[in-house]
Amino acid sequence: MSGKVHEYRGRNVTVRYDVKRCIHAAECVRGLPQVFDPDRKPWVEPDAAGADQLAEVITRCPTGALHFEREDGGPSEPVPAENTVGVAADGPLYVKGDVEIVDSSGSIVLRDTRVALCRCGVSRNKPFCDGRHAEAEFRDAGALAESGPRPDEFEAGGRLTVNPASNGPLLLQGSMEIRSADGRTRSYGSKSALCRCGASKKKPFCDGSHKEIGFHSD
Ligand code: SF4
Ligand code: FES
Repeated sequence: MSGKVHEYRGRNVTVRYDVKRCIHAAECVRGLPQVFDPDRKPWVEPDAAGADQLAEVITRCPTGALHFEREDGGPSEPVPAENTVGVAADGPLYVKGDVEIVDSSGSIVLRDTRVALCRCGVSRNKPFCDGRHAEAEFRDAGALAESGPRPDEFEAGGRLTVNPASNGPLLLQGSMEIRSADGRTRSYGSKSALCRCGASKKKPFCDGSHKEIGFHSD
């Protein structure tokens, strides 16, 4: 789950960093190396860039480990108009939008615009990805079966609820577009069961294999 959140206060922007949700995708370091420098202490220096530029780079963080608060009256992070689920090759599901994660009792665990969800089964921070897919040598190209054009009746937007089923898949409810890793194939819908045990033969979708392998997760 979400872990300790570190706060870095600047004149115009406060940066918040959730250590447990960072998988070192390094979008931040690439985007603004003068602000995000893992070899420096503190590693975040919010005043080293303009507020708008800093906000833009933070919203590129695919896991939601980074967030910002404007202290200068500037705009807060917009909620994306559409919910998307990006299937990463050999990696997690990157979900963007108006995302709400609920537990099996229906309690809200997190609301966010960006989350990275484990689909290899080995994260120790489920349902979030913690980067362990790399050492587990999880392999899946992130392909989707061919899909047709976006259906006319598809209504984008609204809240996307993610419920990690006990010992089972991620149950998603709400308007969503699922994108293959190469971005070429897309699937549209309002309900999905996505594999999070790593064993499905129909990835990214669940095919019931979690029962055969005895997948365990609350
Ligand atoms: S972009 Fe986000 S996940 Fe990637 S290194 Fe920076 S904080 Fe971590
Ligand atoms: S969660 Fe992996 S097959 Fe169901």
